[in-house]
Amino acid sequence: MKVLVIGSGGRCHAIVEALSRSPKAPKIYAAPGNAGISQLAECVAIKDTDVKALLAFAKEQSIDLTVVGPEAALAVGVVDAFREAGLKIFGPTKAATEIESSKDFAKRLMKKYDVPTADYATFSDFDEALAYVRKGSLPTVLKYDGLAAGKGVVIATTMEEAEATLRDMLLDTKFGQGRVVIEEFLTGEEFSLMCFVAGDKISPMPVAQDHKRAYDNDEGPNTGGMGAYTELPFITEEDHAYAMSHIMQRVADAMVAEGTPFTGVLYGGLMKTPQGIKVIEFNARFGDPETEVVLPRLKSDAVDVFMAVANNEAPKTEWSSEATLGIVLASKGYPGSYDKGFAIRGTECVDSKVYHMGTAMRGDELVTAGGRVMIVVASAPTLKEAQSKARADIEKIECENLFHRTDIGNKAFR
Ligand code: AMP
Ligand code: GLY
Repeated sequence: MKVLVIGSGGRCHAIVEALSRSPKAPKIYAAPGNAGISQLAECVAIKDTDVKALLAFAKEQSIDLTVVGPEAALAVGVVDAFREAGLKIFGPTKAATEIESSKDFAKRLMKKYDVPTADYATFSDFDEALAYVRKGSLPTVLKYDGLAAGKGVVIATTMEEAEATLRDMLLDTKFGQGRVVIEEFLTGEEFSLMCFVAGDKISPMPVAQDHKRAYDNDEGPNTGGMGAYTELPFITEEDHAYAMSHIMQRVADAMVAEGTPFTGVLYGGLMKTPQGIKVIEFNARFGDPETEVVLPRLKSDAVDVFMAVANNEAPKTEWSSEATLGIVLASKGYPGSYDKGFAIRGTECVDSKVYHMGTAMRGDELVTAGGRVMIVVASAPTLKEAQSKARADIEKIECENLFHRTDIGNKAFR
C-alpha cells in the first residue's frame, strides 16, 4: 500500500502521522513535506500545486491513494486531474472547492438551501457597496470574494475604515479583480465542525476550536491559528445535532443537487450566536490547526477512512474519548516579518505529539523555517489535564526566536 500526502505544514504532518498508525503500514510519500514529516514519510520535492509533476509521480510509483491537504492544490484541480487519470484521491473537485474559494458561491448556496448564516449582499461596484454600508450598522464585515489566504476579511468598526477597505478591495489592484461580500456582524463563540463527506453521506469529526489572533485574550493580528483543542463544553448535544442536520447535511445535499457533489473534508466554521448556530465560512479541506488536535483522536485505520471517502462511501470512524489541546510555537514577529534559521532543541524530551509546521534541517540541526514553526499537542482524559500537559511540554522546547499563547483552551473554563 502506497499513500501520497500533498502538502507541507502541521496539518499534513498530522495526516501523515494518522496514516502511519495504520495496521496496513503503508509506505507514505509527502510532496513536498517538511523536516518533521520526513521522520515518517519519504519527502519528494514537488510543489503542492504542480499537478503535472504530482500526477507523473503518482503514476510512476503506482500510488494507491493520494490525500490532499492545502486548498491551493484543490483550487488548481489536482483532484480532477487524478480522477481523470483513474487514480484514487481524497479531496473535492475544483468545482466543489468553490464552497471555500468563492464566498459569493457559498453565500448563494446557503441562501438557496436555507442554511443559517449572516445576512449579506455582494458588490463589484464601489459606489453601490459604499451606499449599502452607509445604510447599515457598524461593525460591518467586508470579505474579499476569492482565495485570500485568511487575509480577505476585515471587520470595520468605523465608516472611514469601511470605506478605505472597500477602496482597497474594489478600486485598487491589491486583491486582484474585485468583488466584495458585505455581511451582518455576528457575535458568539466560534467553533469548527469538520465532516468527512462523500456525496450525501457525512460523518463528523470531534468539534474543535481554533485561536486565530496572535496574542493572549484574542488580541493582536489574525494568524493561521495559534492553537486549538477538542471537547468544547459550550457545544451541547442539541447544538451538535442542529449543526449536523441544518448545516452540514444540508450543504452536502445541496452540493449534490447543484451538480457539484462534495468528496473529502467539509469544514464548517460556525458560530453559536444568540439566534442559534450560524455559518461563518466553509472550507473544502482539513482545518489548520484543528486537524492537529482532531486526528490524534482517530482510532480507526486512517487508510480505510480516506479510501472509503475516495470511493464515495461513508467512512466508519471511531474516536478516542480523550480531550486534546495544541499550542503553536511561532517565530517572533509572526504574522508580520520574522527571521528564520534559529536552532530548536528539546523536541525529543516532549511526551506530547509535536507536529512541524515550518521547520528545516541545517546539517543535523533542526531550525525554524516559517512563521508558525510547530504545534505541541497533548491528549488526556480531561481538557484541563491536556492543557497542563501541553503547557509543561512546550517549556521543554528551547529556541530563542519563538513565542506562544498561554491561554489556549481557556474559553472552555469560563
Ligand atoms: P473567515 O475568513 O470568513 O473565517 O473570517 C475570519 C474571521 O472573521 C472569522 O473567524 C470570524 O472571527 C470573523 N468573522 C467573519 N465573518 C463574521 C461575521 N459575519 N460576524 C462576525 N465575525 C465574523
Ligand atoms: N483554522 C482555520 C482554517 O483552517 O482555515
